[in-house]
Amino acid sequence: MKSYLRPYVTRLIIIWLTAIAGIATVIAFPLIIERVIDGPVHHGDAGGLLPLGLLAIGVGALEALLILFRRYMQVRPVLGLETALRDDLYEHLQRLPMGFHGDWQSGQLLSRATTDLSTIRRFLGFGMLFLVMNVLQVGAVTVLLLNKYWPLGLLVLASVVPIVWTSLRFEKRYIRISRQVQDEQGDLATLVEESAIGIRTIKAFGRRHHVYDRYDDAARKVYGSSMDKVRLSAKFFSFLEIIPNITLALVVLLGALAVGEGALTLGALVAFTTLMLQLVWPVASLGYLLAMAQEAMTSADRLMEVMDTVPAIEGGTGTIEEPRGHLRFEGVGFRFADSEEPVLRDVWLEVRPGETVAIVGATGAGKTTLTALVPRLIDPTSGRVTIDGHDVRDLDLKTLRSVVATAFEEP
Ligand SMILES: Nc1ncnc2c1ncn2[C@@H]1O[C@H](COP(=O)(O)OP(=O)(O)OP(=O)(O)O)[C@@H](O)[C@H]1O
Ligand SMILES: [Mg+2]
Repeated sequence: MKSYLRPYVTRLIIIWLTAIAGIATVIAFPLIIERVIDGPVHHGDAGGLLPLGLLAIGVGALEALLILFRRYMQVRPVLGLETALRDDLYEHLQRLPMGFHGDWQSGQLLSRATTDLSTIRRFLGFGMLFLVMNVLQVGAVTVLLLNKYWPLGLLVLASVVPIVWTSLRFEKRYIRISRQVQDEQGDLATLVEESAIGIRTIKAFGRRHHVYDRYDDAARKVYGSSMDKVRLSAKFFSFLEIIPNITLALVVLLGALAVGEGALTLGALVAFTTLMLQLVWPVASLGYLLAMAQEAMTSADRLMEVMDTVPAIEGGTGTIEEPRGHLRFEGVGFRFADSEEPVLRDVWLEVRPGETVAIVGATGAGKTTLTALVPRLIDPTSGRVTIDGHDVRDLDLKTLRSVVATAFEEP
């Protein structure tokens, strides 16, 4: 673990402890209500209401404070972690050689630096926490329900099964369609970018209608997928209302019978239904959170693909006190890794301080390649390049790049 991550991890642990304490207060509340109903309300004892009422207020206030504290603690480590990762990635990208940037599409790097990092941040800041919290809450509530009155507890457990099953299926489809919408929005953005950059060309060639049609197609695609997404959620959330309500009706009916027979107190039944409804969200969101975890892992993999690439060009330690600008190519050869034929073969060239040299040649002759060897955008495959007698590979990269200036073809 990198040392700068340590303070964030400490904070994360505090946040988790706070969250667990928060769950305890949530569960405690129905239990207090149970005491109120079975005690003061049942016996018509108004005086007994006060301590329990104060306790309820205290627990409620504690819950609010815990939520406030958790959120306050959460913001900094999560955003800080994202910033640290982002800086790391950017710095690494700057150090990677030209060859790497040639092989990777800029869009791929861009999506790693933005979307993948946000996915990881969302999981670390929200998903992971709620995953653990929900599992704990579901476990604790289930034990309580079975403990209170096991026949109804089993009924509630049985109703959880279809919810888990549907939400797992729903989330898988939902993630897939969200991805699709995102990709299509990306395509749309690319079209806007292209037409903004190429507006002169588009106008010069009279391609306005063609460009419009392409954009229109892409926009309609986004519309279609977004509508599918909304339909899917509408179906799922309706389902999510139905099952718990049917279960609630059954629990109230069977619970009332049990109260009549004296197997259950009225307060316990009220506590039971309240606790039972507390299960709905943690259970339903399980699928979503698991999908989020999966996504975050994919994103971390995608990020690591870049971070694990070792910079091929590392600087030496040499410096030049007073650069004079004496450049020599000594038997330099260069071949691109992916081609058979060398671009340069046994090049000898000396440029003395103050001299100006023009290199002229056909397109593809290797002029750009030759000049790229001096600031070490690439390294020769044979021979060496020296500045004031120092092999450029022995020079520290900062020194080297301060003594070599490049003016590009485009002004
Ligand atoms: N990244 C690369 N991978 C493989 N081959 C490459 C790569 N970059 C350039 N080449 C090849 O190396 C040769 C030399 O290219 P270079 O760009 O140095 O030519 P140039 O003389 O600068 O041409 P121009 O006058 O068009 O700028 C060309 O045949 C080119 O196709
Ligand atoms: Mg060139």
